[in-house]
Parts: sequence; structure tokens; C-alpha cells
Amino acid sequence: MKEPVDERSHPNGVLSALDGHVPSRTPIWMMRQAGRYLPEYRELRAKAGDFLTLCYTPEYAIEVTLQPIRRFGFDAAILFSDILVVPHALGCSLAFETGEGPRLGPITDLAGLNALRTDLDPLKIDRVLEAVSGIRAALPKETALLGFCGAPWTVATYMIAGRGTPDQAPARLAAFRDPAFFTALIDRLVETSAGYLIGQLRAGADAVQIFDSWSGVLDPVSFRRWSIEPVRRIVEKVRAQVPGARIIAFPKGATLPGITELVAATGVNGVGLDWSADRKATRLAVGGKVALQGNLDPLALIAGGQALDGEIDALMEEFRGAAHIFNLGHGIRPETPIAHVEQMLKRVRG
Ligand code: CP3
Repeated sequence: MKEPVDERSHPNGVLSALDGHVPSRTPIWMMRQAGRYLPEYRELRAKAGDFLTLCYTPEYAIEVTLQPIRRFGFDAAILFSDILVVPHALGCSLAFETGEGPRLGPITDLAGLNALRTDLDPLKIDRVLEAVSGIRAALPKETALLGFCGAPWTVATYMIAGRGTPDQAPARLAAFRDPAFFTALIDRLVETSAGYLIGQLRAGADAVQIFDSWSGVLDPVSFRRWSIEPVRRIVEKVRAQVPGARIIAFPKGATLPGITELVAATGVNGVGLDWSADRKATRLAVGGKVALQGNLDPLALIAGGQALDGEIDALMEEFRGAAHIFNLGHGIRPETPIAHVEQMLKRVRG
């Protein structure tokens, strides 16, 4: 006899977990799963010559997105792009210097913000949306497609500093010193990021993730104001246009009270946990309300061997019976051996 089919649960494990079900087999994907640890990525990256050319050439973006799916069969593909495409499409200058990370703008006051566009340049954004529909068409039916954007706070930190910094001090200072400018910048990012996610969902993304990679540097009051509130507004705007849109928040470095408040305030379907999260306590606090995504330390993946197996086993045990999506606690690093990714997949899938 066949197993009874739960009509309500999606056949894709990632989407099923986001819909509040406990998938029969733990689904898995990895942040930055397309990237420099893959020789086929490095080859296409060299051919494109520059990272932004990869992002804005649909043929390349489609190919790079599919590379880790072909090699590993992850349960979800994530659009190959970057969170800094949004400021770029607002008219902010952007370059990726090899080995040095991004260089932008910078945008440091209202005059700078007012010189930018109020909408995203369709000449840039339409190429990303074209990639989204191309990826959906090329992906196996059973693989979910995730779109994404950066959270306004995290994107603002890069726009203000013009680059990554150890503690995003320039943006924290601007928020205290010039709240009129800072509020206007966050508002611009809320509006445009919501429209961008709506475009991705309409082009074929099955769910979207909002990356707040720098939420951990905020004090609790600022976290509520600059991290939770903008994400809440994006979720509201997106669901007004795309009812039932599935949304994952990744508030990297957030405290458990912060995560709990974010889940209650925003109504996201899933929350990404970094490796510092206390799994038991997080599950107890929000496990019945959202899917839990994460949270293997990317360094355990580099270490491999018994250390990796032990970490995976502990993680799987602590999330057993929960709506859990296996992932890393942050993006995979370029120096990660491919054999360790294979080892992880075997262990997770049993
Ligand atoms: O996850 C995926 O596979 C999808 C693609 C993706 C990239 N960046 C590709 C990328 C996603 C979702 C991002 C998000 C992103 N970009 C974040 C949020 C997540 C996080 O990692 O915290 C942030 C903060 C950025 C900004 C950014 N982009 C930085 C700081 C850098 C330089 C650091 C680095 O790793 O090189 C990038 C460049 C970047 N984005 C690369 C890739 C594959 C490497 C570029 C290259 O090939 O030279």
C-alpha cells in the first residue's frame, strides 16, 4: 500500500517546511552554493571577466545558478546575483575588486541619496528577472527556486561605508547622527527591495530570502527599528501583491530575543540561523511558528572528517521532528573542499 499523501504539504522539502510541515526527509541547500569553491564557477567567472557581468548576463547567471544543482542535487537553487545589485540599480557606483570585496558610492547624506533614482533601473533589474525565469524553466521540477535581496539595514551599511567594515561603524554612526538621512535611505530600500522581490516571485521564484548579514552589530532598540521594522514592511508589501508569498529572514548575529521578536513581528515563514544560535533554545522559542534553517559552522565543513560528521549528527538530532531546512550558518568559503560538501550531503540524507 502507498503511504497516505498529505495534500497540504508541498513535494519539495524546502517549500513544505516553509509551509509549516515537517518534511519526511530533511531538505538541504547552502548559502553561496554557487561560487569560488567550484572549478566550473571559477572558469565561467574568468570568461565573464568581472563579477557584475556574471550577474547581469542572464545566460551566465542561469548557468552559475544551475552548477551546484547539477553537481549536488540540492533541494533548492538560489538565484545567482548579489545584494548590492539594488544600490547599483539605484544609481550607486559599484565594483568588485578581486580579493578585496565590494566598493560602492558611498552615499553619506540626504544630498547623496537625493541624487539617486527612486526606482530600480529596469535596464539592470530586468536582466536579473530574465535570469529568474530562465532558471525556473531550466531547473528540475522538484527543485525549489529561491530569490533574495539584502535587508535594508545590511544594504545601507555598505552604501554608507562604501565597502565592508569590521563592525559597520559608519552606518551605526549615521543612524545616530543624521536620522533624517538614515530614515530616508531605509525607506528607499524598503520600497525598492519589496518591488524587486515581487518581480522575482512573479518571474518564477518559489520563495525569497532577506539577508540581514549585519543585524548582529545593532543594539536591541536599533535592531527593532532598523532590522525588524524594515523587514516587516517588506513582508507586508510583498504579500499585498503576492498573497501567501514564502519569505525567509536571515538575521545574522541576532540574539534569541531578537529572533523571537522578528518572527512575531514580521510573519516570515522561515528564519535562517547562523552557527552561533542556540538550537535547543531557538527551537523552543520559535520552532512551532516558523521553519528553522541552518546552521552548520562553515568552518566545520572546511575541517571535514569526524568533526564534520559529529556536528551534523548533533544538529540533525536537535532539529529532529521540527520543520528544519539544513543549511550552513553563513556562506560556504572558497577554500572548502568539494569532497566535504559530498560528505555532508551523504550524512544529511542518510
Ligand atoms: O548564495 C548564493 O549562491 C547566491 C549568490 C549570492 C552572492 N552574494 C554571490 C557572490 C548571494 C545570496 C549573495 C549575498 C550577499 N552579498 C550578502 C549577504 C549574505 C552574506 O554573505 O552575508 C552580502 C553581505 C553580499 C555582499 C558581497 N558580495 C560581499 C561582501 C562580497 C565580497 C566577499 C566575497 O565573498 O568575495 C560579494 C561578492 C560575491 N557575491 C561573490 C559571490 C559568489 C564572490 C565574487 C567573485 O566571484 O569574485
